[in-house]
Amino acid sequence: MRKTIIAGNWKMNKTPSEAADLAAAIAKITDFQCEVVICPPFVDLFYAKRAIEGTAVKLGAQNCHWAESGAFTGEISADMLIEAGCEYVIIGHSERRQYFGETDETVNRRTKAALAKGLKVILCVGELKEEREAGTTESVIERQVRLGLKDLTAEEMANVVIAYEPVWAIGTGLTATSEQAEEVCKFIRSLIAELFGAGTAEETTIQYGGSMNAKNAAELLAMPDIDGGLIGGAALKPEDFAVIIAAGSAK
Ligand code: 13P
Repeated sequence: MRKTIIAGNWKMNKTPSEAADLAAAIAKITDFQCEVVICPPFVDLFYAKRAIEGTAVKLGAQNCHWAESGAFTGEISADMLIEAGCEYVIIGHSERRQYFGETDETVNRRTKAALAKGLKVILCVGELKEEREAGTTESVIERQVRLGLKDLTAEEMANVVIAYEPVWAIGTGLTATSEQAEEVCKFIRSLIAELFGAGTAEETTIQYGGSMNAKNAAELLAMPDIDGGLIGGAALKPEDFAVIIAAGSAK
């Protein structure tokens, strides 16, 4: 059976000392039966890692370059993330696509490089509000999934998680209804089945993200094709994150 994964994307929040405190609070949440991941900013990784040492909480980063090293000012490599203690990396978040020129092609390059080094990738896809209103949600998601996963093997898919994050639901308090979220997650699973086979599709964790919180997590996670959450704002509040983790454990 596929894993339920609850991951916190801290985005550009928390200084190293604040990150150490938040990670220490999350490290106290011990009674869970799902995978729990925190993804702090790069400079916080060592501090967060130290705080979760000896617990089952996993560490992830928010981006990763495709080159091994070199003249790429402002970027970070998979080797650096691994040495900092990361097991996961988020790739292709909509904020990177919207504000930092991330394209399906660069998402694919980053994904392949991260996988080649042994990181697990949380690949984000999601439609804009205008795209949903224009009825193009499925074609946008299909393009992002096909191009993001281009040239991957079924074996590599064992280390890929897809996060469906409708852009209009991120940080807006507007959650997709559980039916809307389920519909797209199910569609993503059908695409994976087409690309890699039904067995791989059944094993792939597909998360929902976008204003998931302590109140709505259980309902979203009860849907058959929603296997976890990628959480922004609520992941910065340990009590709320704990409730979401409990909902993930109950799945
Ligand atoms: P919010 O939970 O703050 O809406 O953010 C979702 C998100 O973008 C997680 O990657």
